[in-house]
Amino acid sequence: MAKKLHPHALVIPCPYQGHINPTIHLALKLASKGFIITFINTQFIHSQITKAHSPSSSEPSGLENIFSKPCESGLDIRYLTISDGFPLEFDRNMNSLPFLEGLINGFSNYVDKLVGDLAKEDCVDPINCLIADTFFVWPSIIAKKYEIVHVSFFTEPALVFALYYHLDLLEENGHSGSHENRKDIVDYIPGVKSIKSSDLPSLYQNSVVHQLIYKAFQDVRKADIIIANTVQELEPETITSIQEKHKFYAIGPIVSANFTELTISSSLWSEHDCTQWLDAKPRGSVLYVSFGSVALVNKEDILELAHGLMLSEVNFIWVLRFNVLGQDENDILPVGYKEKVKDRGLIVPWCNQPRVISHSAVGGFLSHCGWNSVVESIWCGVPLICSPLVTDQLANRKLVVYDWKVGINLRDEESITREEVRSKIKYLMNEETSNNLRKNVAQVKETFHNTLATNGSSNVYFNKFVEELKIKIS
Ligand code: UDX
Repeated sequence: MAKKLHPHALVIPCPYQGHINPTIHLALKLASKGFIITFINTQFIHSQITKAHSPSSSEPSGLENIFSKPCESGLDIRYLTISDGFPLEFDRNMNSLPFLEGLINGFSNYVDKLVGDLAKEDCVDPINCLIADTFFVWPSIIAKKYEIVHVSFFTEPALVFALYYHLDLLEENGHSGSHENRKDIVDYIPGVKSIKSSDLPSLYQNSVVHQLIYKAFQDVRKADIIIANTVQELEPETITSIQEKHKFYAIGPIVSANFTELTISSSLWSEHDCTQWLDAKPRGSVLYVSFGSVALVNKEDILELAHGLMLSEVNFIWVLRFNVLGQDENDILPVGYKEKVKDRGLIVPWCNQPRVISHSAVGGFLSHCGWNSVVESIWCGVPLICSPLVTDQLANRKLVVYDWKVGINLRDEESITREEVRSKIKYLMNEETSNNLRKNVAQVKETFHNTLATNGSSNVYFNKFVEELKIKIS
C-alpha cells in the first residue's frame, strides 16, 4: 500500500484540447500548494503538441519543456506519456467510434500499468492520488486497486454534471432522442429548476458516446472528491443539489486572471500569430469566431456564416480548423472570399485564443460555447454570440444566454441564415445595442475575480480540497 506523507498526484486529462487546457491549470495550481504532480498525456497528444511547437517557432514552449524543469519553475511537475492503444496515425476525431470505444475499454490497461508502477512502495515519492477527468469510465477501479485517493475533475459546469448524472431520469421522461426541434421544458432534474429540451446536451449522437457518459457518471459516484471548473455563486442551486450526495467543490474558474500570460502552450496545432493584425484595428472592433477543437460544422453553415460575416461589415478573425468539416477540404469558402474580405477578415487554422480575445481590439466572440471558450471570454470581458453544436455546448449556452445574459443566441432554428448571422453580429458589435450584455459580462467577470480572492468561494473550496486531500493521503 503506497501511503507516504508527501502528496503526489497522477493527473490525467481526457485526450482532447478542451480537457487538457484546464487540467494543466489545475496541475500548476496543485503544484503551487506543494504537491508533486505527474502529468500524463497520451503519446498521440504529445506528438501533436510537439509538432505544433517546432523549435524554430517563437511560440511558447511545449509542455514537457516546462514540466521537466521543476527547479526553474519552483514546482515539481513531472511529465510522462502513455499509449492510448492506437497507432499515432489513427483517426481520433470526435466521430471516430473505435477510438471512443478504445477510451472506454482499452486505455485503462495502460493507465493501470503506469499507476501500478508509480504507486509501488519502494518508489521514490510513490503516487498516492489519482486525479482523472470525469469522462473516464475507470478511475475508481484503478484507485481502489492501488489504494490511492480518487479525485474526479469535471472540466465543465455543474449544470452539465447534473444532467449527465441524471441520465436515467432523462431517459425515463423521454428526453433521450434528438432535442433540436422540441420546445418543452425539463423541470425534473434535481438542482435544475428548468431547462428547455433544446438546451439539453446532445449526448445521444451515437450509442458509444452515450455508453461513455453513462459509465463515467456511474464511476464518478465512487470518487473520494469531485472538483469542477465552475463557481458556487454562479450555479448555486445545482451545486448545492450535487453536494447533498457528494463531496463536490466548485473551484473555478480554474484559469486565473493572468491566464493569457501563461508561458506553456498546449495547442495541438500551430498557432498563427494574430497580434500585428489586431494591433492595427480599432478598440473593440473585431469579432473573434471559433468552433473549438473537436466539433464538426456542416458546409452549409460555414457558407452562411461566411456570407453573414461579409454582410456584417465588421472586422473578424475566424479560426477555420483544417478538419472542421470532418474531412480535409481546402476550398470550403466561396471562390474569391478571402480576397474580398482581406482588409477586415483574417482567416487562420488555429491561434492562441487567450491571447487573441484578451487583445483590446476584440469586442465580441462568436462561439460554439465550449466551456473553456465561455470562461475565457468572460475573463476577457467579451460578450458572446452562441452557436452550440454538440454535447455540453447546448447546456452551456443556457448559462450564457438565459442565466447570466452575457451572450445572445445565433441559431433559433436548426440551420443558420446569412441574414441572421449579419443581424446578430451587428447587434453584438454595436456598443449601444449590446450595452447590457457588456455590463453583465463585467459583472460575471467580477464574480470570477471575487471568487478567487482570499475569502472567495472558489479559493476557500480549493484550499479545503487541498487540505482534505492531504489528510486522506497521509
Ligand atoms: C469541448 C467541449 O465543447 C467543451 O465544453 C469541453 O469542456 C471540452 O471539449 P472544445 O471544442 O475543445 O471543447 O472547446 P473549448 O472548451 O472552448 O476549448 C477549446 C480550447 O482551445 C480553449 O482553451 C481555447 O482557448 C483553445 N483554442 C481554441 C486555442 O487555443 N486556439 C484556437 O484557435 C481555438
